[in-house]
Amino acid sequence: MTALTLSTSAAPGLRADAIVIGVAKGAKGPVVAPGAEAVDKAYDGKLADVLETLGSSGAEGELTKLPAPAGFKSPLVIAAGLGAEPDAGAGYDAEALRRAAGVAARTLNGAKKAAFALPVEDAAAVGAIAEGVLLGAYSFDVYKDNGGNGKAKNGKAPLAEGVLLGGKPRDAAHKAALARATAVCEELNRARDLINTPPNDLTPAAFAALAQGAAKEHGLKIQILDDKALAKDGYGGILGVGVGSAAPPRLVKLSYTSPKADKHLAFVGKGITYDSGGISLKPAGHNETMKCDMSGAAAVFAAVVSAARLGLKVNVTGWLALAENMPSGSAVRPGDVLRMYSGKTVEVLNTDAEGRLVLADALWAASAEKPDAIVDVATLTGAMMLALGSRTFGIMANDDAFRASIHEAAEEVGEPAWPMPLPEHLRKGMDSPTADIANMGERMGGGLVAGLFLREFVGEGITWAHLDIAGPAFNEGGPFGYTPKGGTGSAVRTLVRLAELTAEGDLG
Ligand code: BES
Ligand code: MN
Ligand code: ZN
Repeated sequence: MTALTLSTSAAPGLRADAIVIGVAKGAKGPVVAPGAEAVDKAYDGKLADVLETLGSSGAEGELTKLPAPAGFKSPLVIAAGLGAEPDAGAGYDAEALRRAAGVAARTLNGAKKAAFALPVEDAAAVGAIAEGVLLGAYSFDVYKDNGGNGKAKNGKAPLAEGVLLGGKPRDAAHKAALARATAVCEELNRARDLINTPPNDLTPAAFAALAQGAAKEHGLKIQILDDKALAKDGYGGILGVGVGSAAPPRLVKLSYTSPKADKHLAFVGKGITYDSGGISLKPAGHNETMKCDMSGAAAVFAAVVSAARLGLKVNVTGWLALAENMPSGSAVRPGDVLRMYSGKTVEVLNTDAEGRLVLADALWAASAEKPDAIVDVATLTGAMMLALGSRTFGIMANDDAFRASIHEAAEEVGEPAWPMPLPEHLRKGMDSPTADIANMGERMGGGLVAGLFLREFVGEGITWAHLDIAGPAFNEGGPFGYTPKGGTGSAVRTLVRLAELTAEGDLG
């Protein structure tokens, strides 16, 4: 990952591959954003005109490259669009900074060093720019032929070094913002790696082994239930989904405890390392990206490790429900009845509705510890994608205030999310003539039906929310802002923010 430092140096004397500046969309054309004064001065104060001549408007996502002025030690200036210029007195929006830094960092893949001269008004801006650079510079080329020399053949290794100009290396708040961004983005990028890793390599056992390594490194407690232990303890949901695969399931419990905590959060992640649909097989065209079906577990994993690295004053337990959903002679059939960990029976009407089965067992296990709140994260339904599109996750909950707090936390960190209801009338669609409940209900509102199913497996009186990240977890389109193609790390920053707010006593 890119190594970031703060510096109060002036841009002209800095030796780098490029200097990134901000350009905003003003009322009468592009406006050079604060932070780039020295650069503007070297263009005789005419940088905005130069940018306009080059076709720049300051729109979000826009990049304009121009040769650095005479006397500069760097050859290139890159102007990144920040969108509308803020009103007088108002600062630049954190998300605008994050995106502009991300777009610039992405174009700098392959470069050694770049300086970022973007508007730094406060520590929050330092954090946002750092996040944008660290997340934008991500690349996944583990599986590309690198010619055996450890270098990416196409020269697209992430930007090696970034200098944040205007960030004060001796300012405690600036330093803390950089350290926080570094810890969270490192874990978030690791989650992206897990999501992008092909399912023949990332089996449930392989995922659990990686969690074990991280637990050791960061002093977390870990407990891994293998298929034998799951059978012994009656985890019928996780076993039922995993029993068709040659790669057996796992339930991983990862605990971070702080001696100063008085709250306990449980995060539960759907970890289907590959979702073929099982006997209710997905047709071609619907299974090529289903390695992403463990994105919820990857997000939970990243969030728990982040909480530990940040030393948050809250206890956080992560539950990774890991299984591979495959068709085979031993696979669960439509019509089978599973006895879940909670004791309830479920008639499996569609083996492709597997996420709710593994989550049900993990939710019940999490409930036994009586945490203050449980949040589950899952690529659960195609219906949620139809409802909210590919960039927004849905939030359902058994508590309106908690749902609103999560929505607010998501907004704060720049993750698009939207509250969704749990309409009671949809519950009866899951009535089964044979078992306590069926794993499928009405087709209409399928994302909400899935939420209602999960609610049945949350312990009495426990505050719970469900994030359906089926849309934003995996970016099938081109990269945008600081979001790459492929695994995005959706929900990681929301979960970390939630843990921070809980630690600060601002939640629950
Ligand atoms: N993993 C899928 C949901 C999904 C679809 C995630 C597309 C990301 C992109 C989930 O297991 C699934 O197959 N859900 C079914 C449920 C249905 C059978 C009730 C769905 O949404 O079609
Ligand atoms: Mn499925
Ligand atoms: Zn699935």
